[in-house]
Amino acid sequence: MKVSLTVNGERLEGDAWGGESLLTFLRDTLELPGSKNACEQGECGSCSVLFDGTLVCSCLVLAAQADGHAVVTVEGLAREEALHPVQQAFVDAGAVQCGFCTPGLVVATAALLERVPEHVLTVIDEAYFQYVEDPSFPDAIEEAAKRGRNVLALRTFSKIFGLAGLRIGYGVGPAGVVSAMRKVQRAFDVTTPAQEAALASLDDDAELERRRAVNRDAMAALEAVLREHGFDPISPAVGNFLFVDVGEDAAALDQRLLRRGVIVRPMGSFGAPSALRITAGTPEEIAFLAEQLDAVLVPEAGRIPVS
Ligand code: FES
Repeated sequence: MKVSLTVNGERLEGDAWGGESLLTFLRDTLELPGSKNACEQGECGSCSVLFDGTLVCSCLVLAAQADGHAVVTVEGLAREEALHPVQQAFVDAGAVQCGFCTPGLVVATAALLERVPEHVLTVIDEAYFQYVEDPSFPDAIEEAAKRGRNVLALRTFSKIFGLAGLRIGYGVGPAGVVSAMRKVQRAFDVTTPAQEAALASLDDDAELERRRAVNRDAMAALEAVLREHGFDPISPAVGNFLFVDVGEDAAALDQRLLRRGVIVRPMGSFGAPSALRITAGTPEEIAFLAEQLDAVLVPEAGRIPVS
């Protein structure tokens, strides 16, 4: 059958067989190979395109369904000679893994940002930013807030700086947003000692580096303990905690650990009922965790809590 559609602003036409997907039609007939063919089940998103402005997996759309419609592929995102801002941002941040799914990620990200109205402020929480050791890791202050984007980047002194008790942090964002926040700011909400401690912390690069090194060792030790107990935490992580799927109701394991003096965080409220978040502690605390895991897990099963 003949399929006639608009692709990247151009009216195109080609022959498709009845069950042909839009993905293979784009790649093989229209010779637009940017959309990638990976799972062909709508799971990986490598084949993402915009279909009449809506993000779809082109592997799940029939070529015949596209007849008379408008499709934008990754090839159509660039504007004249310039890359689309999302493409440029991916280049600047080195945001590729193997690269195969990158076109789909670019299209999906562009579609997401299109849906954020102008008046909506994007807030980026960088509470754990100072733990990151990769110099190419995105920096929301440098790459968004300082470039005048409608972004508020938040940092805190509660994490690596260890000033959680002083309740102090800061944000960098558009002047209009900051002045609006000032109007509703409570008087005397950040104490003078907290401000002095925060400013002193910012100047102590050597101490920050020491803490990063301590955290690096603690994260490695925590990961080793979890793996010894049959778990497979998501790694490498760039904060001071690990996310680990325990393969069953994590709330039960949380309660058993809690009764033995170990506080972890079940991730059910984040949509991961079988996962725990475990913070890297001191060597003694990690050894204590190992002892308690020994006590609450059935050794031969690896991970079933029994007590
Ligand atoms: S190829 Fe994976 S979602 Fe289409």
